[in-house]
Amino acid sequence: MRLSLFLGNQTETINQNNFMGLFTKKSIDILLSEANETGENSLKRTLGGWGLIALGIGAIIGAGLFVRTAAAIAQNAGPSVTIGFLVAALGCTFAGLCYAELSSSIPISGSAYTYTYATMGEFLAWIIGWDLVLEYAVGAATVGIAWSEYLNNLLVEVFHLSPIPYEWCHSPFQTSVDGVNGIINLPALGIVVLLSLLLIRGIKESTLVNNFIVILKVAIVILIIALGWSYINPAYHTPYIPEATKYTDHHGTTYNFGGVMGILGAAGTVFFAFIGFDAVSTAAQETKNPKKDMPFGILGSLIICTLLYVLFSHVLSGLAPVDFFRDPSKGGEASVVAAIKEAMHGYGWLSKSITVAILAGFSSVILVMLLGQSRVFYSMSKDGLLPKAFSDVHPKYKTPYKGNLVILILVALFAAFVPGDVVGHMTSIGTLFAFMLVCIAVIILRKKEPNLPRQFKTPLVPLIPILGVLSCGAMIFGLGWENWARLIGWLALGFIIYFGYGKRHSKLRNK
Ligand code: ALA
Repeated sequence: MRLSLFLGNQTETINQNNFMGLFTKKSIDILLSEANETGENSLKRTLGGWGLIALGIGAIIGAGLFVRTAAAIAQNAGPSVTIGFLVAALGCTFAGLCYAELSSSIPISGSAYTYTYATMGEFLAWIIGWDLVLEYAVGAATVGIAWSEYLNNLLVEVFHLSPIPYEWCHSPFQTSVDGVNGIINLPALGIVVLLSLLLIRGIKESTLVNNFIVILKVAIVILIIALGWSYINPAYHTPYIPEATKYTDHHGTTYNFGGVMGILGAAGTVFFAFIGFDAVSTAAQETKNPKKDMPFGILGSLIICTLLYVLFSHVLSGLAPVDFFRDPSKGGEASVVAAIKEAMHGYGWLSKSITVAILAGFSSVILVMLLGQSRVFYSMSKDGLLPKAFSDVHPKYKTPYKGNLVILILVALFAAFVPGDVVGHMTSIGTLFAFMLVCIAVIILRKKEPNLPRQFKTPLVPLIPILGVLSCGAMIFGLGWENWARLIGWLALGFIIYFGYGKRHSKLRNK
């Protein structure tokens, strides 16, 4: 079936009308033909529905669960962190339903960037592509920082060595309780460099390796739930929703603790744990039957993770009192392990194996994020919005190695010098913004392309996308003005690059 172009011959008038040119859209015709391209540079269709779920869980379960849950208990909600998880899951489900429709109708890599190019035009596509750097590159740095924390845990608890000195595993903006200033986070830097180099060498997460890590991660989470359940102290769950009050941590940051605001704050904090389900959509071009498998993979991994998260956080908050999670000397970021040691005597082997599983699990998250980032930059470079170097493929390894090197430098800088909290929130706000645009894209595409074959249709359009926009907007609101300012600053930098480079080199505008 021949699909109509959104703007007819508008590309021809772009040079006369610069403003309209900003909203040039990539036609669905072009996208679908790109998706069906075959040849030596095309991607292989090897993934099925369960493979996608494994990819999703590989990218989803990581620092959000093993680090941010404890932070949300301490700073925001105590035991009602479980409700925070449900609120975050609801927002993700609305967005997930929209991703499912778009990725099954436009099955091409590039994800939110591509959907926006087709529905809202080049300028917004650029914004979203630039914004996705926050999700993928800054997200990889965040998980790298958590990896560094757990590496220390491994050295001390498993190998009985001394920890890496504080100054060499923290950013210059962090100070220990004893007054030691951080200088650089070397382990975080090391892991992102190592994994980036692996990507350049073309070492792909094979389905087998990914499945192995996923089984390990899921098994550990289920073990903690099953073994920890009988150690829950009901006193730590009473009251389940703490009374609304304020909490100021040792850095002097004040949080709304307890009540409804506490739950919303917790939702914003643990939202990070859900990031990655959308990475499934970047594999659309490698999926055997995207129309059927995409919705299954995206929504399936979301449902499984939500269930695990709620049960896990219920157990964790029952193992130790809120004050335990507030005490930086109790394991810091690795406080899940500390809580298990504190409450579950005789399970030393569990805390040791958790540390190893978590390190492996974090590595798979970082790898998928770095991979997602290189795919988005690759698509943007193919469209002319970024220099051609980003889509230059290594003659031997067949990977976009130049792009990977630039991404390596960017991620390494964030991992080495920015505190985990800051990069974690930047990742969340960037992702939430992308989710909002994906929800809006569904409404626009329904209007502009009513006849496009859609295997999966988001139910109750426009209600579900609108609820997606509102819930993601509420979580952005909950992240506070400092993070809004960071997002605006990041986008402003993106504007400069777009008007300085992308606008002049865009292939679609300069056809
Ligand atoms: N959801 C991923 C994590 O929690 C980003 O590490």
